[in-house]
Amino acid sequence: MYVLTLFFSLVDFRFSPSGPASESICHTLPKFQKSEMAQAMALNERLLEPARELIARCITELNWEDLSEDTVMDIGCGGFFLCTRALLEKFPRMGCLLAVDKFRTISNEIKEDEFFAEYFRNNSLQFHLADITDSSSLEFYRGLIHKIVSRNMLQHVTDKEMAFQHMYDLLRPGGHAAVLFCIENPVETWRLIISTSTNWEQYRRNEIILFYAANLEDGYYENVLEDIGFRVVRCERSDVQHQFENDQTLLTKLLSLATIFLKIPEDKMTQFKEESVKLFKELIGYSGSGPLRYEISDLLLLAIKP
Ligand SMILES: C[S@@+](CC[C@H](N)C(=O)[O-])C[C@H]1O[C@@H](n2cnc3c(N)ncnc32)[C@H](O)[C@@H]1O
Repeated sequence: MYVLTLFFSLVDFRFSPSGPASESICHTLPKFQKSEMAQAMALNERLLEPARELIARCITELNWEDLSEDTVMDIGCGGFFLCTRALLEKFPRMGCLLAVDKFRTISNEIKEDEFFAEYFRNNSLQFHLADITDSSSLEFYRGLIHKIVSRNMLQHVTDKEMAFQHMYDLLRPGGHAAVLFCIENPVETWRLIISTSTNWEQYRRNEIILFYAANLEDGYYENVLEDIGFRVVRCERSDVQHQFENDQTLLTKLLSLATIFLKIPEDKMTQFKEESVKLFKELIGYSGSGPLRYEISDLLLLAIKP
């Protein structure tokens, strides 16, 4: 599980609700006072910064101000709780923050982290196991959530349309969803094809969750959300250019990834390298000369349930 957690964190690339639905799920719990102990731990700013940017977009574009009565869900919180941390940095007094993942990504490091410890102690921060594609695991929360944040989770879901429908169902009327996910990444598409191909599938090391490409049609997800009933406030695609200088730098990257999820026998390594480079070049439509240029594209959706 640690490998899986680490993998998810590095790729970037029960309760029973009581009381009326208008109450925060943690309403009965004492309000959090930030502890002197709770100081931000030294952690990788490079990983945290994009999560902070997503929360900043919620503040400016969805006008998030006071979440002290709100129940907020970070869906696909991962092993580092990045959005959870970014949320608490901006909203230290939150009604209740549910860090949710389909795997038990919570670790002792997170529970004992100085920044999080007090929030866990007073239950204003809770980890819950739930799968956004499995409605039975979401039943408890239906119609109770004020705000959903989900970053880099949907690329691991095949039926993204269903996931959006479930997010809609989770939200209270007037609730907000801020979803950012990767819609295109040739390195991840290489991983998906290689690890499910007849030649290499047999060498898979562990259970891995793969990247599932999204529909790249302009406006597709905006329409999906509107058809579900959301009012879309923002639908923004961002494309970032990347490159490998040559085959060797490409291969170094692909092999470093491959060792996480495949155990290729030594005698098959040459074939694996050749197939990997060939496949990647096909995926990016490589012209045959110069650096291997490719794009990674994200989609940001900010939406309100009327
Ligand atoms: C790439 S990590 C992103 C972690 C974090 N949100 C971040 O921004 O760094 C994706 C996380 O989504 C979780 N995940 C994948 N599919 C999911 C699903 N169907 N329901 C809930 N979580 C899911 C994975 O277990 C993983 O922890």
